[in-house]
Amino acid sequence: VRALPDGSGKISNYSSDIKMFPMFVRALPDGSSKISNYSADIKLFPTFVLALPDGSEKGQFLALDLGGTNFRVLRVRIEDREVDIESKTFLIPQRIMLGTGTQLFDHIANCIGKFITEQNLQGEKLPLGFTFSFPCKQEGLAKARLSKWTKGFRCEGVVGEDICFLLHEALKRLGITGVEVVAVVNDAVGTLMSVANNDRRCEIGLILGTGCNACYMETLDNVGLWEEDCDFPQQVIINTEWGAFGDNGCLDFIRTEYDRELDTYSINPGKQIMEKMISGMYLGEIVRLTLERLYNEGLLFNGMDPECELFVRGKFYTKYVSEIESDHDEFFRNTKQVLDELGIENYTTDDCKIVKYVCTLISARAAFLSSAGLATLINRLNKDHMTIAVDGSLYRFHPRFHNLMCLKIQELVKPGLKFKLELSHDGSGKGAALVAAVSTRLLESKS
Ligand code: BG6
Ligand code: GLC
Repeated sequence: VRALPDGSGKISNYSSDIKMFPMFVRALPDGSSKISNYSADIKLFPTFVLALPDGSEKGQFLALDLGGTNFRVLRVRIEDREVDIESKTFLIPQRIMLGTGTQLFDHIANCIGKFITEQNLQGEKLPLGFTFSFPCKQEGLAKARLSKWTKGFRCEGVVGEDICFLLHEALKRLGITGVEVVAVVNDAVGTLMSVANNDRRCEIGLILGTGCNACYMETLDNVGLWEEDCDFPQQVIINTEWGAFGDNGCLDFIRTEYDRELDTYSINPGKQIMEKMISGMYLGEIVRLTLERLYNEGLLFNGMDPECELFVRGKFYTKYVSEIESDHDEFFRNTKQVLDELGIENYTTDDCKIVKYVCTLISARAAFLSSAGLATLINRLNKDHMTIAVDGSLYRFHPRFHNLMCLKIQELVKPGLKFKLELSHDGSGKGAALVAAVSTRLLESKS
């Protein structure tokens, strides 16, 4: 049990051990000093996003959205809080996700080129907001060095590099002119911006999708890593990268044999430990490993063909968990369909009950872990009413995640604090464009 602070002091070091909630966060401060280094388990990256939209932003922007289920290029027009979006989804083949950085950025630049042609934007000056959903040390709004790859990506030669520079170089190689990256944001930040455009009470962004992460609005005074002298609003969004919580072993006391096996066979063993207990890239596999063990012990699917897909890593998708938990009667229609897809034969109603029960336990654990993190941030911000912007396929499609979280957060927040989980409808690309627009507004108002 490690926890975030109560908001009364400054963000200081990462070693505080305040026992607030079961199973969470030795992350934020104990009140004695500031966010001060990058070596801790929860990184708390300042994002250089200093203000939320105030409604006066306007213009036409490009946006990229890389790192979730879909890679998208967007054209975003903003005026009077109205945001008009056109977008196209492109595929990133696995050989590129695991190839070289040059291949990845050439591929991205190529997609931008195609999109510009299709939208007839050749020759226009296009500021671009880049949602890059991986941990980065930002040195400026448009300068971000990748700390490490997470989820399914591992492109050589990118860690430690400025991804804006890499993208600009690729655009140059392809002869694409007029596009300038003016902001790089994390998807949690994009989600926060997107909802904050219409809701002034929104100060936390949460992603429950392929990966899991959260960001929040922090007072600049509390951020020791901040070296800029700045007359802008005295706040900055902090990207917590809390998916890495537990990488130092502090969650080992709640990890199971299934968590450990999943980690061993992942492309980044020992990394993103909390994310591996929560997010969509992993939940299905945890269920699969549990069912496999039950089968091996003779407790499930008696007489099943051992050649079936239940024994193949990665074949039990997280969407199955949502489908199975959507069964509400004794017919188990969805559960049966999933079991059929996996090639399991002769299952009984009891088997279906057990499969559903395993899913409910594993997704409830994920919802409670996320709630512990969120409640900690809500308590820290200590506002009477707080909106939390949420995005991601897990939250969007799971039938109980929202309710489970609301109940658990309610138990954990200070009495009197009210909160609302608000699904973001437009994705983080819109948020990245808004960040680009806000930064343009702030720069114009300064000059
Ligand atoms: C989307 C964002 O809405 O949510 C993505 O636009 C983000 O950038 C995503 O990564 C998270 O969800 P998922 O399920 O696609 O990983
Ligand atoms: C991973 C990434 C993080 C991102 C999250 C959700 O945890 O490291 O940057 O926000 O996935 O996509």
